[in-house]
Amino acid sequence: MRQHVNPLSINFNQIEKIPSLGEMFGNSKLNLHLDIGCASGEFLFDLALVNTSWNYLGIEIRERLVKTSKSKLREREIKNLYFVFGNAHNILNDSQSKFILNNLKSISFNFPDPWFKKRHCKRRIIQPDFIRILSNTLQKGSLIFIKTDVKDLFDYMDSTISNNFNFKKIDRKEFNYSQSFNPNKVKTNREKYAIDKQNDIFEKIYIKI
Ligand SMILES: C[S@@+](CC[C@H](N)C(=O)[O-])C[C@H]1O[C@@H](n2cnc3c(N)ncnc32)[C@H](O)[C@@H]1O
Repeated sequence: MRQHVNPLSINFNQIEKIPSLGEMFGNSKLNLHLDIGCASGEFLFDLALVNTSWNYLGIEIRERLVKTSKSKLREREIKNLYFVFGNAHNILNDSQSKFILNNLKSISFNFPDPWFKKRHCKRRIIQPDFIRILSNTLQKGSLIFIKTDVKDLFDYMDSTISNNFNFKKIDRKEFNYSQSFNPNKVKTNREKYAIDKQNDIFEKIYIKI
């Protein structure tokens, strides 16, 4: 399978129709978490099966991965999980998806970018413009979680989010994970790989103020 796709390609300008929360989930009133760059969604399957009081939404730009996760979802009849295919920036910038950002309790960016080189910086999902969209639409108290094993990317994501005055860092030592979308600290595939390789993992949590 092709490993990376260029998010700036015009192929991603057209986005799929986003259903209402009632169509996505069995109970649309549950807390909603969004995972951006969810790959084949294994992390979200692990979360959704255990934390049935949360709804989980994944966005992924590689279409084949989304097709696989959607068919797995149909087989297993899980009602608190949904996947959308496309460039997360284009999807969340579209007026038809405003209701998603309005209803989110939290967003995670786990090892989001394969774009390490400076010349590919524009392909990264976290951009000042994208963070502005989030800051203009998320409810106060919504959380953003970032995690990566690439220090330069971490510094870049951290400074991009911190430069937006609507987000404040949270001290992770004081953070109560049991109330969060990931109470059992389930690991993503890339995180398991990084742990296996004994890579340092850099993470941060921000709150919309
Ligand atoms: C390194 S993988 C990490 C996957 C998973 N989050 C994990 O931690 O195992 C990054 C994923 O983000 C996806 N991705 C990158 N840019 C994206 C974008 N603009 N919109 C949606 N998905 C994106 C990639 O296709 C890839 O599947």
